[in-house]
Amino acid sequence: MEKIIIFDTTLRDGEQSPGASLTSDEKLKIALQLEKLGVDIIEAGFPISSPDDAKAVRIIGENIKNSTVCALARCKDEDIDIALKSLEKAKKPRLHLFLATSEIHRKYKLKKAKDEIVKIAKEKVRYAKKFIDDIEFSPEDASRTEPDFLLKVCQAAIEEGVKTINIPDTVGYAIPEEFGKLIKFLSENLPKEIIISVHCHNDLGLAVSNSLCAILNGARQVECTINGIGERAGNASLEEIVMNLVVRKNYYKVETNIKTEEIYKTSRLVSTLTGIPVQPNKAIVGKNAFRHEAGIHQDGILKYRLTYEIIDPKMIGIPKSELVLGKHSGRHALRERLKTLGFEFDDKKFEKIFEKFKKLAEKKKEIHDLDLIAIAEEEFTSMKQVYTLEYFHIVSGSSTIPSATVRLKKEGKIIEDASRGDGPVDALYKAIDRITKITPILKEYKINAITGGKDAQGEVNVTLEIKGKTFYGKGVSTDIIEASGKAYINAINFYLARKMVEKKTLKGT
Ligand code: KIV
Ligand code: ZN
Repeated sequence: MEKIIIFDTTLRDGEQSPGASLTSDEKLKIALQLEKLGVDIIEAGFPISSPDDAKAVRIIGENIKNSTVCALARCKDEDIDIALKSLEKAKKPRLHLFLATSEIHRKYKLKKAKDEIVKIAKEKVRYAKKFIDDIEFSPEDASRTEPDFLLKVCQAAIEEGVKTINIPDTVGYAIPEEFGKLIKFLSENLPKEIIISVHCHNDLGLAVSNSLCAILNGARQVECTINGIGERAGNASLEEIVMNLVVRKNYYKVETNIKTEEIYKTSRLVSTLTGIPVQPNKAIVGKNAFRHEAGIHQDGILKYRLTYEIIDPKMIGIPKSELVLGKHSGRHALRERLKTLGFEFDDKKFEKIFEKFKKLAEKKKEIHDLDLIAIAEEEFTSMKQVYTLEYFHIVSGSSTIPSATVRLKKEGKIIEDASRGDGPVDALYKAIDRITKITPILKEYKINAITGGKDAQGEVNVTLEIKGKTFYGKGVSTDIIEASGKAYINAINFYLARKMVEKKTLKGT
């Protein structure tokens, strides 16, 4: 199968995104991750544009081992000199020369005739070729250039030793079919050994489509960026191009060196360091790309993942897809989520929970696990409380070891025990453990005053871990030691209630 060369320009065109600006250290971090991702060529910067860019190209060149490191330059001696200097330490350096060719650019920007453009292209490639072998040439605004003239400029650059011709759709004006035809025309008329590359912008939202169409018509290199960032509406997104080629390999019949499992990590890194968020519905790496909310879809996914998912999230480095619980969700997804949280209910109880869940979902956009735990535990609370606090006595002070005597009621029977502890609450909890013969791990303990004044009601919330599962408990009293005891017993009761339900469920199966 033919290889498509992935040329990443996140650090050059991507950094031209309004609002994005990276330090050279941050650029190096991204470059190292791009190398891990398997990118063939990293365009590290445009050295003439700023000393920072030149520094970044230099540092990246020094540190990257496998990927080619590329620097951009206009067809001007000073640009070429500084780009080549910045690439000095790169193991595999590439110079990327560009020169505008379209009529509109010739007339208004460069104020040069066609012949002059050809002459400059030839001269500057010849000049650079004395110092570097790997040169890529881009006729800027190629998609708006007269095809015959475009071919002429490319041929001139090739005569001087260029090996890669990049066709940019600089202003995102191309249409896939038309762009495909242009690439076909060039690939039929340029020497076979020349790599044709494409570089598409997204002004009309067609950057990825244009790039893919170009591949179908002979392009063998694509220029793209992570998350599709770049000048104005951005560049073609690397992850979208690559995943199209992977998912529809049967159609494109080409492959890349990209390690797709590194895609998500790379996307997060670029977003964090550039400060450019990824839109939630962005293909492949958006927050919602692997989240399903509609009940029918969730049911389908739970029955057979491929009903509604064409990409296994693991392929791009996301552990698994997510069933988002919201007002469109159905019973199947709710039951599954409750199960993963450790709750199982008979049909009658489940219907009550489902009703409560739907009511809450009307008010709240997304239902989180803690919301579900609260709903589910409410159901458990309506069950019988196994233990209740009958009495406690604490001895504590600056010169005494704290101790607690506790009396709990269990099914009409009073059980008493005592213990010492590191503090009054610790002594109380240890005495309770002796009675219940359960030794929870106290993960969290919080006190809040819920009323004002000296006789304020205190609320204690505890989080306990028992046999690897988490249980929450709440206790309210004007005495915070009593509130602490009640919260602890409350959580233990949840544990026991759940154990009872699990036992029943097991018996029923
Ligand atoms: O969009 C463009 O034309 C460019 C060139 C420098 C390749 O970024
Ligand atoms: Zn560009």
